[in-house]
Amino acid sequence: MKIAIGADHGGYSLKQVVVPYLESLGHEVEDVGCECDQSVDYPDYALPVCDLVASGKAERGILICGTGIGMSIAANKVRGIRCALVHDLFSAQATRDHNDTNVLAMGERVIGPGVAQEIIRIWLETPFSRGERHVGRLNKVKQIEENDSARS
Ligand code: RB5
Repeated sequence: MKIAIGADHGGYSLKQVVVPYLESLGHEVEDVGCECDQSVDYPDYALPVCDLVASGKAERGILICGTGIGMSIAANKVRGIRCALVHDLFSAQATRDHNDTNVLAMGERVIGPGVAQEIIRIWLETPFSRGERHVGRLNKVKQIEENDSARS
């Protein structure tokens, strides 16, 4: 899989662990930064990752900041992005199965690298169930996106 990844200074150290982990699983990684732990703004890294995913240039995206919250808020503003903030293994599985999420957000200040790697492994391996009720709900979410852009 081609996976885009980005982090701010609060997620930089975890990103440096996650990139080689993804490569060890055989994935192609596009790392949009940041490049060090100097203070930066998370939307500047959320957007390029989400653009790669929304345009189909990457199949999935991973975003890391201190809490994962800022990244997930920013990501879900991008048309076509379904981003889940995940810090436990159950949610990693459920958000693929039920929500077909294409971007994963995590907080380096919330979980350690071992849990983060296991979340990523499960999130990448779990398919969308394609269950009728889940597809219907996602269509309703898409409708919100479309109605909202028609309003502005
Ligand atoms: C940076 O201090 C921190 O606010 C950021 O990494 C993130 O947690 C925002 O949601």
